[in-house]
Amino acid sequence: MQLLYLRPSCNTNICSFSTQSKNVSSRRQNQVAQIPKEQQLNFLKTVAPPLMAAILAFSPLLHPPVSLGQTIDIQKGANLFRQACIGCHDSGGNIIQPGATLFLKDLQRNGNDTEEEIYRVTYFGKGRMPGFGQNCTPRGQCTFGPRLQEEDIKLLAAFVKLQADQGWPNVENSGD
Ligand code: HEC
Repeated sequence: MQLLYLRPSCNTNICSFSTQSKNVSSRRQNQVAQIPKEQQLNFLKTVAPPLMAAILAFSPLLHPPVSLGQTIDIQKGANLFRQACIGCHDSGGNIIQPGATLFLKDLQRNGNDTEEEIYRVTYFGKGRMPGFGQNCTPRGQCTFGPRLQEEDIKLLAAFVKLQADQGWPNVENSGD
């Protein structure tokens, strides 16, 4: 913390640091604080990175909550996927209908390559896929198991889209 009070001042070759503390005798100050410019630069170079790191670490601008949120969401999306979807869509495939995998190529061909469409399919189901939304109708098109909250379906849609864009990398390896 003392560093924060150092005030470097330089003339041609000689630089000195003065502290704000008044009880340092000027003689001692001269002896201790007269540092050649080069050395002062080195000193600043050593001090600057940790100082910058500290500033960056506490700067909310450079660490928007969004990025933290995304990390958690991927993890949560992966968990939801494991709970509700993996039975039919293991690794992004489709054990019931091979032409309707969660890979980009199939999603595109079937017009399901946006988060909105993935959300819709997951909420209301499609063909032999049951819907998982709270208000999914008709009943016959909906899962007999537990329904998913809207928030969770949004998260799943974002997760599926992200995974599709990346070619379904192994979540176990990349996520944790
Ligand atoms: C019981 C098996 C089953 C489960 C469980 C299941 N799906 Fe499906 N899913 C299917 C089938 C079958 C299709 C093909 C539907 C069609 O196109 O007629 C499909 C299609 C999809 C599609 C469109 C794929 C494409 O290429 O058009 C998406 C997106 C999707 N499922 C997401 C999910 C998500 C997310 C979950 C978990 C919440 C899930 N599915 C759970 C069987 C399932």
